[in-house]
Amino acid sequence: MKLLLPTLFLTIAPAAIESHVTARQLATFGGFAENIAVRENGGILVTSLTTSSIQYFDPSDQNPLETLRSIPDANGISGIVEVERDLFAVAAGIWNTTARRETNASIWTIDLRNTVPSNAVFTKLLNIPETTALNGLTIVPGTSIVLGSDSALGAIYAIDISKRTYSITIQDDILTPLSSEEGLGVNGIKVHKSELYFANSDTGVFGKFPISQAGVSTGPPQVISQFNSSVVSGIDDFDMDKDGNAFIAAHLNAIYKVDCRGTQEVVVGGNQILDPTSVALGRRGKNDQKVMFASVNNITSDADHSVGSVAVVYL
Ligand SMILES: *[C@@H]1O[C@H](CO)[C@@H](O)[C@H](O)[C@H]1NC(C)=O
Ligand SMILES: *[C@@H]1O[C@H](CO)[C@@H](O)[C@H](O)[C@H]1NC(C)=O
Ligand SMILES: *[C@@H]1O[C@H](CO)[C@@H](O)[C@H](O)[C@H]1NC(C)=O
Ligand SMILES: *[C@@H]1O[C@H](CO)[C@@H](O)[C@H](O)[C@H]1NC(C)=O
Repeated sequence: MKLLLPTLFLTIAPAAIESHVTARQLATFGGFAENIAVRENGGILVTSLTTSSIQYFDPSDQNPLETLRSIPDANGISGIVEVERDLFAVAAGIWNTTARRETNASIWTIDLRNTVPSNAVFTKLLNIPETTALNGLTIVPGTSIVLGSDSALGAIYAIDISKRTYSITIQDDILTPLSSEEGLGVNGIKVHKSELYFANSDTGVFGKFPISQAGVSTGPPQVISQFNSSVVSGIDDFDMDKDGNAFIAAHLNAIYKVDCRGTQEVVVGGNQILDPTSVALGRRGKNDQKVMFASVNNITSDADHSVGSVAVVYL
């Protein structure tokens, strides 16, 4: 019998990562959960590589998860970032989760301002036909520049969402995958202060580049922390707190905190958190950063048949 291995990230056996923090699953849906964003009001948007619709729910009410309208000419959505209050940019495309590559990538905005989520306004901004794996998105704060990671090429696109233009602003060996086929290099990205932090899934490098307001690197990259590939099969998307600590989703089953000195600490792991793909720190209330949400996946055969969900973790 041929064992069907989940293909998106599972390349090694789960490591024995244990934690004393518990995670609770809040909502599930049919699809490979890829990325999440938290609105100022606490509502959560979840993207999936295997559906062209965004899932929405508010953890503070009892309403079930709501499927927003689907994006045309796409079968999956990867990165999501809030570009201004309640206005989100997403990267859509036609994904092959076995090859871990896409075609027909496009950037859309989803406008939740002054409307209920079911009436969110979707606007297509532009196509990026040459990318084969547009993955994480982040914004240079105070600008209209959204940065997108290309996990196949090992590059960063700067996408001007006002002018609807884009170009590659960073391309570097530290961002490339180990294998040109199916490999994933730079994945999660986040601008904090005037630096672009990145996670390279294949190499386990968590590092940063100094950047300008235009998203161009202004100096060489620096490695902050190196993950051990015997323990972690791939680091993915992450969020950062105001002190510069990163909370990184790590396959197969952990979320790590990495401080600015590069010290790694498991925040939650083991059976609590299966195949996490991204992390978003909570935003509501005084204790904003005491709660963390993660997109997680229960992959029984392959990514196309994953059950995605959002786990909440109290820090
Ligand atoms: C994807 O892009 C190709 C090449 O530009 C085009 O021929 C095709 O129609 C596109 N597919 C969809 C579903 O938009
Ligand atoms: C997806 O990629 C795999 C592996 O490269 C390939 O065998 C398969 O034909 C592709 N599927 C589609 C629908 O293109
Ligand atoms: C990586 O982890 C393995 C398994 O725990 C351990 O044997 C090895 O020493 C670690 N490598 C490094 C460089 O820390
Ligand atoms: C994952 O899905 C399987 C099959 O539906 C189910 O038996 C198992 O309990 C699920 N695991 C978790 C952690 O939800």
